[in-house]
Amino acid sequence: MKNFYIETFGCQMNAHDSEKVIGTLIGEGYSQVPTPEEAQLVLYNTCSIRDKAEQKVFNRLQQFKRNHKDKKIVLLGCVAQQEGERVFERAPFVSMVCGSASYNQLPAMLVQLETGNKRVTGLSLDTEDTFDTPLTRRENPHRAYITIIEGCDKSCAYCVVPFTRGPERSRTSTSVLDEARRLADAGYSEIQLLGQNVNSYRDPSPTGWDFAQLLDAVGRVEGIRRVRFTTSHPRDFVKPIIDAIDENPNLCNHVHLPVQSGSTRVLDAMRRLYTRDQYMRRIEWMKAARRDIAITTDIIVGFPGETESDFEETLSLLREVEFDALFGFKYSRRPNTPALALDDQIPEEEKTRRLQFVLDMQREIQLRRHASYVGRVEECLVEGFNKATGQWIGRTSQHKTLNFLRPASADDLLGQYVDVRVTRAGANSLVGECVN
Ligand code: 5AD
Ligand code: SF4
Repeated sequence: MKNFYIETFGCQMNAHDSEKVIGTLIGEGYSQVPTPEEAQLVLYNTCSIRDKAEQKVFNRLQQFKRNHKDKKIVLLGCVAQQEGERVFERAPFVSMVCGSASYNQLPAMLVQLETGNKRVTGLSLDTEDTFDTPLTRRENPHRAYITIIEGCDKSCAYCVVPFTRGPERSRTSTSVLDEARRLADAGYSEIQLLGQNVNSYRDPSPTGWDFAQLLDAVGRVEGIRRVRFTTSHPRDFVKPIIDAIDENPNLCNHVHLPVQSGSTRVLDAMRRLYTRDQYMRRIEWMKAARRDIAITTDIIVGFPGETESDFEETLSLLREVEFDALFGFKYSRRPNTPALALDDQIPEEEKTRRLQFVLDMQREIQLRRHASYVGRVEECLVEGFNKATGQWIGRTSQHKTLNFLRPASADDLLGQYVDVRVTRAGANSLVGECVN
């Protein structure tokens, strides 16, 4: 019996790619094992978004320096695509590198690997295909990912993704809806639509749907109660998306809209293709919506040339918007990217200071915002149970964690939807009591 171990780094796209890779491997007669020690085939699905993520992978590979004799080691994903055949020099015991645009060639590549080829590669970005496979081994029993668009056609000056995931390819709306129906039949009630930039989705079939139309249609699939999507690009984020959320209660009232910086000058240097004002217009649409839409974002501090006054503009944007949550990052220099050529790098200590300032400020904002939730009743999908605290872990439509007690019942609530009254609020989660 052939077996494999896989470890995944990086974003939800990568997590879902791994689910498809696992399905493909099982389809080829492999079985999955829980540790690399017992595996014949060890796969790392890698991320290179920041230097730290890439280092993690090479640290992992170091562990195999001596102890790899009876194993074949495979690098998948963004580091594989970015480093290509250089991986074989850096880590000679790796015998296959394959980027995400080549995953539909995996079965043939596995045959090469099995027949003893020590340098198998799948590095072409020249593809029009998406990686569609019915053989997806899904990890979460309630929430399922569906890829609607792969790759990215933007060229943000700091970002490796256009180099690691290739050009944009959208799936047909028919295949997306078929998958959503199959998932609903299999008992999934929540769908998360995935893409590097879901807003530029364009149905390649004659239907020609845009993202708002696809989103609405997925939200109308029978049995689906929640639809989320990630990630959005402000430039392609149009009003009809908000209208769809307003009209279709199955679409979750949460939008992740990465702004990166509050300074139009920095946004221009980042090649983000929008100004601060244009971003703020999208925020106004959301705040004017009938539904209470939670808004989250990503921020990069210390992009080359970011002055103290640019940074102040980011802080003022955060105060103006009052995001529900924020992911903050220090700018990290990445291979191949246009920003590599920029002078005026910001010193590491200064980046650290700016990031800490952002995070501290955001924490205050979240504490204040969340305090206003006390007394509200929120519908939660129950995602887990915390034995230590005796609390169920729920997720609201706005994607907030709401932990709650349900005294006098030992029922298994996992996967169910329950109403919870919020009784306490912290910066990162809410606490409440089940009311039904
Ligand atoms: N340095 C720091 N952060 C980055 N991101 C993307 N590339 C970089 C980089 N080179 C952040 C952006 C993006 C998130 C997924 O990662 O904020 O939205
Ligand atoms: Fe990491 Fe970006 Fe690749 Fe996702 S697409 S794995 S975040 S580099």
